[in-house]
Parts: sequence; C-alpha cells; structure tokens
Amino acid sequence: MSKKVWTDVDDYIVSSLFEADPILEAVLAANRDQGLPAIDVSPAQGKLLSLLVRISGARKVLEIGTLGGYSTIWMARGLPVGGKIVTLELEPHHAKVAHSNLERAGVPDKVELRIGPALQSLETLAAENAGPFDLIFIDADKPNNPNYLSWAMRLSRPGTVIICDNVIRDGTVLNDDGRDAYVEGARGAFSFIGGDKRLDGTAIQTVGAKGYDGFAIAIIE
Ligand code: SAH
Ligand code: DHB
Ligand code: MG
Repeated sequence: MSKKVWTDVDDYIVSSLFEADPILEAVLAANRDQGLPAIDVSPAQGKLLSLLVRISGARKVLEIGTLGGYSTIWMARGLPVGGKIVTLELEPHHAKVAHSNLERAGVPDKVELRIGPALQSLETLAAENAGPFDLIFIDADKPNNPNYLSWAMRLSRPGTVIICDNVIRDGTVLNDDGRDAYVEGARGAFSFIGGDKRLDGTAIQTVGAKGYDGFAIAIIE
C-alpha cells in the first residue's frame, strides 16, 4: 500500500460523499499563497471533526492550534446556531490569514481567535471562567500535548470530548528513545490519557492525503 493509494482513496471519499466546496478550496489556496505550511487536517479528517462536534452535541469548542483556520471552519460548520469556537494561535501571520479565511467561510461570528502562546491563552480562559468546553481539539506544538491535556481537564466537564491530532506520526510513536520532541509529544498524549482515570480514550490510525498518522480521542468520565 502506498501514499498514492491512500490519496486516491481520500479523493474517492471526498468525491463520493462531499458536495463540491469552493470555499474550502479557496481557504487552502489562501494558505498556500500566504506561505503557511500545508499541515491542516485533510478534508476527510475535517469532516470527521465536524461530525464529532455534531455527534457530541457540542456548543462550545476549544481549538489549540489554528493555522489558517481550516479545521476551525470544519468544526464551526458542525455547531448549532449560537455555538462558538475559541481557537488559539501563536503566530500573528497565521492568525491574520485565519481571520480572512473565517470571513470567507461566513463563520467569523462563531469563532473567537486568540493570538499568543496557547499556555498563556489557556490560563486567561481559566481566569475568565470561559469553560466548560464541550469538545477540545489539540493540534499545536506537540511537546506541549501533556500541558494542553492538563488545561483541557480544567476547562471541561464530565462528557467533554478531547481530540489530539498527530499522535501516530508514521508509527514513530513507538520510538521511546526520547530523541524526537514531536514523538515525545505523541507519547505524552498516550501517557496522559492512559494515566488519568477520569479519561476514557482510544486512538485511531489514519492514512490518506496527509500520510500515516492518527487522532487520540477521549471522553471525560
Ligand atoms: N488545526 C490546524 C492546523 C494547526 S498546525 C488545521 O488542521 O487546519 C499547528 C499550529 O499551531 C500552527 O499554526 C502553529 O503556529 C501553532 N502553534 C505552535 N505553537 C503554538 C503555541 N505555543 N501556542 C499556540 N499555537 C501554537
Ligand atoms: C505538523 C503539525 C500538524 O498539526 C500536523 O497535522 C502535521 C504536521 C508539523 O508541525 O510538522
Ligand atoms: Mg495536526
């Protein structure tokens, strides 16, 4: 099996199940034009996030790691009327591109974008009593995964769904030599979820247009 097959199957999933989506295509084109790295979730994964928002009935979503807002837009589309996403981004340039993409997608009223190191923004959100969030998507700097999960516990309630991206990384999650900070981040997510009795979780391995990776998904008891 090769990346070509995975990508062709992703194209098949999208062409069979999704309506043509010029807005999201324009979002990805804007990200490219503005020099953002193409590390957004894939369309099939974005739709999964949107469905998870709907399946869980989430009204309040927290995202850590906005980039150009591609995953934000997918999740915003899954929200009911009156639903909101707070999304956290370190890089002002990414945030600027995300703002214009959110406008383009017609969801700016549903999204509050906070710029700065997520650990600081999370502290502010906690001080503001902004929680509990119903669904939390963690997709920023991987070494901070355990710290983000720790904040997620504080900003949540029983039943909150937590999703953490990029926890498989071509299978390198099995490397326990501590030499790669990204791998350590993925392993940190597993240790955290496996080690906290309040969390009931699993991980799904994914292949597709973005290669071989996966999501960890957990619910707070
Ligand atoms: N969720 C996006 C992809 C996010 S890529 C999507 O699927 O469309 C990861 C993002 O996290 C990048 O934009 C990066 O700038 C941001 N990031 C990295 N370190 C961060 C930090 N400490 N605080 C907040 N955001 C951070
Ligand atoms: C990277 C980050 C991501 O969130 C992702 O989905 C893929 C790659 C990265 O920083 O390399
Ligand atoms: Mg990611």
